[in-house]
Amino acid sequence: MKGIKRIVVILGAMAIVIIILSRCMNAADQLPEDARGKAYTGAATCIKCHKDLSQSYAHSPHGLTSKPVVDAALLKVFSPDSNSFLFSAHQKVVIEKRDSGIFQVAYQDGKAVRAQKFDMQFGSGEKAYTYTYWQGKKMYELPLSYFAAIQNWAISPGFPKESFYYDRAITSRCLECHASYVDIKLTQRSTFSKDEEMEKGSVIYGIDCERCHGPGKQHVVFHMENPQEKTAKFITLYKTLTRKQKMDACGVCHSGNALVAQKSVFGFEPGDNLDDYYTQDFVGFGGGDPDVHGNQTSMLTGSNCYRKSKNMTCQSCHNTHENIKGNLNLYSQRCINCHQSTNHSKTTLAKGSLSTNCIDCHMPKESSKLITFQQAGKDHLSPYRLRSHHIAIYPVINK
Ligand code: HEC
Ligand code: HEC
Ligand code: HEC
Ligand code: HEC
Ligand code: HEC
Ligand code: HEC
Ligand code: HEC
Repeated sequence: MKGIKRIVVILGAMAIVIIILSRCMNAADQLPEDARGKAYTGAATCIKCHKDLSQSYAHSPHGLTSKPVVDAALLKVFSPDSNSFLFSAHQKVVIEKRDSGIFQVAYQDGKAVRAQKFDMQFGSGEKAYTYTYWQGKKMYELPLSYFAAIQNWAISPGFPKESFYYDRAITSRCLECHASYVDIKLTQRSTFSKDEEMEKGSVIYGIDCERCHGPGKQHVVFHMENPQEKTAKFITLYKTLTRKQKMDACGVCHSGNALVAQKSVFGFEPGDNLDDYYTQDFVGFGGGDPDVHGNQTSMLTGSNCYRKSKNMTCQSCHNTHENIKGNLNLYSQRCINCHQSTNHSKTTLAKGSLSTNCIDCHMPKESSKLITFQQAGKDHLSPYRLRSHHIAIYPVINK
């Protein structure tokens, strides 16, 4: 009897210990794994407590800027008369639906000579979609991209216009700005060149919560275990960052493509110093000639609004959690926050009510010097136009 009692007591004690231990581990263990490591947990978890924000995030250009190609969605961009591109009388690329997916098929004198499948899509489609295909652990860009401005296919930016080309490698650098993660392996090939392999299954598509906010697992575990706590813990608060830190948090992807990364920026977290990741881009600093594509940071920091105010950042006009695309009236209110009164000349005032659209006069759309695209049968390149972030007085623009 004594023996049995002792066993019961021991078992009971063990059960209690197990329950206590499992309660300690519970919150963290319930969370899904994330390819970035133990400190991360993925957007699906964030959404559980931040439902209102996740609604807008799901449809935001950041969230949609890369994804695996879904055939049904791609077919919507299709129309029977615009699914091919003629390079010459001899060469064309045709977009074809086959049993195993949708392909860009190259024809030489009527004979199919190369076919690659649409695997991944870059861009939210706001301006363009560029597509890539995987070959083992490497990724390549397809010859045709889709441009919203013409609602049609054209040659991918920078590709030759005389004949089709399928061999432009897409490196992890594109994903560093257009996705949240990819696992890469580098092997030194020679003193100056490294060979990069990317793990397809590890790609975290789109720019997700933790890409902008930093790893959030500890934050989640804390708030799961302390539901009564309404003050955010273990997550960087943007409002506590300095102006440079705020600019860097956007500049990691919005400072142009010319910067040389010293180490992968996938690990960049808000609060980090961007100079630790990129070597200085002396060209981009005011004196150079930054491009409207991809380099909003240099354009803005070269403007008097930025230079002569103490606290202007991207957030003075953009809240990445709201979608006010195209609402120039609302954007103009953000100018008026700092410019309650303006000294416009009679000629300018005669142009009508200025207060609803400061934007088209002071931040006009300009053509990118880096990106143009070639349409079929045209002898000139088509412009790729973006809003200039060099806020200034431009020669009067006739609207
Ligand atoms: C268990 C619930 C819970 C989960 C899951 C959760 N949060 Fe939070 N979060 C909170 C609470 C509570 C606050 C404080 C109240 C508020 O600001 O909404 C907060 C606040 C925040 C803030 C605001 C900080 C500020 O500036 O005030 C950010 C950013 C944030 N969370 C990011 C995340 C991210 C990223 C994830 C996913 C990795 C996440 N949260 C998942 C509960 C949660
Ligand atoms: C492109 C970068 C970016 C992405 C992606 C992003 N955030 Fe934010 N988030 C910000 C910035 C910047 C702020 C600060 C806004 C401000 O103070 O003007 C912010 C603020 C917040 C806040 C606090 C302020 C508020 O509006 O309530 C929470 C909570 C938050 N984010 C959660 C999330 C969650 C959850 C996701 C994913 C569903 C997410 N964020 C995705 C950049 C981002
Ligand atoms: C991880 C890279 C990355 C970070 C960090 C990032 N962006 Fe972006 N942003 C992009 C990419 C890529 C696009 C193009 C999206 C598309 O495909 O349309 C974009 C688009 C935008 C747009 C235009 C689309 C829209 O929402 O109207 C704005 C504005 C913008 N970003 C502002 C910001 C601000 C402000 C921050 C800092 C809080 C920021 N971004 C941080 C990569 C990033
Ligand atoms: C340094 C960050 C960065 C890198 C690297 C980068 N992009 Fe972008 N990309 C952006 C930003 C920011 C935008 C949106 C705003 C703009 O054009 O200025 C954008 C826009 C785009 C768009 C149009 C999205 C839309 O619908 O508006 C496509 C497509 C695109 N990039 C593809 C690529 C590809 C493919 C690569 C690699 C060859 C690449 N990008 C490299 C930052 C980057
Ligand atoms: C954070 C405050 C702030 C915001 C927001 C802001 N500005 Fe400014 N802006 C300034 C300051 C400060 C100056 C310099 C005034 C001076 O020289 O006395 C300035 C200068 C200007 C100038 C004169 C430029 C020149 O080169 O002489 C124009 C035009 C202008 N702003 C338009 C705008 C427009 C349009 C917007 C909205 C898209 C805007 N600003 C948003 C603070 C701001
Ligand atoms: C003074 C206001 C202001 C500031 C500050 C500002 N932007 Fe913008 N931004 C705008 C306006 C206005 C648009 C055009 C919106 C539209 O057409 O819907 C825009 C558009 C964009 C776009 C889309 C470009 C296009 O042509 O579609 C990107 C990307 C962007 N901003 C990023 C940034 C980043 C990154 C910063 C900080 C370096 C920043 N912006 C600072 C006002 C501002
Ligand atoms: C029709 C084009 C147009 C519109 C709309 C417009 N501006 Fe201007 N702005 C100009 C021109 C041109 C000048 C140079 C002075 C002049 O000729 O009136 C100027 C000058 C300025 C200046 C420098 C002079 C000063 O007042 O210190 C600021 C700041 C400014 N504008 C801000 C704004 C803001 C804010 C809005 C929106 C509420 C706006 N502008 C709307 C064309 C415009």
